[in-house]
Amino acid sequence: MSFPTIRMRRLRATPTLRAMVRETTLSPAQFIYPLFAVHGRDVHEEIASMPGVYHHSVDRLAQEIDEISALDIPAVILFGIPASKDPVGQENFADDGIVQQAIRAVKAANPDMLVITDVCLCEYTDHGHCGIVRDGEILNDETLDILGRVAVSHARAGADVIAPSGMMDGMVSAIRSALDEAGYERISILSYAIKYASAFYGPFREAAHSTPSFGDRRTHQMTPANVREALREAQLDVGEGADMLMVKPALAYLDVIRRVRERFDLPLAAYNVSGEYSMIKAAAAHGWLDERRAVIETLTAIRRAGADLILTYHAKDAARWLQTLE
Ligand code: PBG
Repeated sequence: MSFPTIRMRRLRATPTLRAMVRETTLSPAQFIYPLFAVHGRDVHEEIASMPGVYHHSVDRLAQEIDEISALDIPAVILFGIPASKDPVGQENFADDGIVQQAIRAVKAANPDMLVITDVCLCEYTDHGHCGIVRDGEILNDETLDILGRVAVSHARAGADVIAPSGMMDGMVSAIRSALDEAGYERISILSYAIKYASAFYGPFREAAHSTPSFGDRRTHQMTPANVREALREAQLDVGEGADMLMVKPALAYLDVIRRVRERFDLPLAAYNVSGEYSMIKAAAAHGWLDERRAVIETLTAIRRAGADLILTYHAKDAARWLQTLE
């Protein structure tokens, strides 16, 4: 059977019909909003490369959490900019570290807000690398111990979900055992299992002051050319006890999201990263595209590819727009 018996336009004729045959849903319930915490008081400073995204001091977080809660966004992921950096990143696992303070502030503002913390070394080390460095090399096993300490200190401060992002081999099992030994067996792990060495992290590195002082991240992050390798990464993290998986970035990797979705049953998150955000913001600022439509289309596509959850800097705007969408 074909045209003229079949007419695809029939089901597109009215808004009601279009809504009823819609295959992919998008809701703030699926959003995770990234927040950047900094030391100081009354700081609310826009990040130049990411218009609409701010550095917040801990005392300003309550206000931000009220806004996020009112938009029905259930979760935040926290990043911190430490007061000082050193080769190991001491503040990363300090009880009064910036992220530990931020966790407590978020929970005080809204105990139901799900707090996810990014666990990596790069924002805390003076060399900006995701692991301990010796003779110019990023050491794997020596780094795992520190990741465990960071995860436990986040859990002690009240984090609900630990999200290791450094692409060290064995990071999930190291964090799982550290958490369990410390009595935090109920804390879950969202693994950045599949993280590519991507140009699209550029604005984030400005926001988090985490650009490596030498070299790059290609000895631990994946090459954009590979997808079978992504499935192996996911497989290993599932075996190490990850509760949820993440693919990052999202837009240039929709096929990777789809492949992981089809192979694994764990909840899957996708990180709509800083560069993806800034591209839309920049084009919209020039009047070159309609920001609202571009954002909703982007987030819908990430969901259609197979992501259950989306980490996105557009979360607040998108939540507002979804309230008034056709
Ligand atoms: C590492 C980390 C990075 C991002 C999230 N966690 C940076 C990197 O790997 O260089 C990037 C997020 C973004 O670009 O929005 N701690």
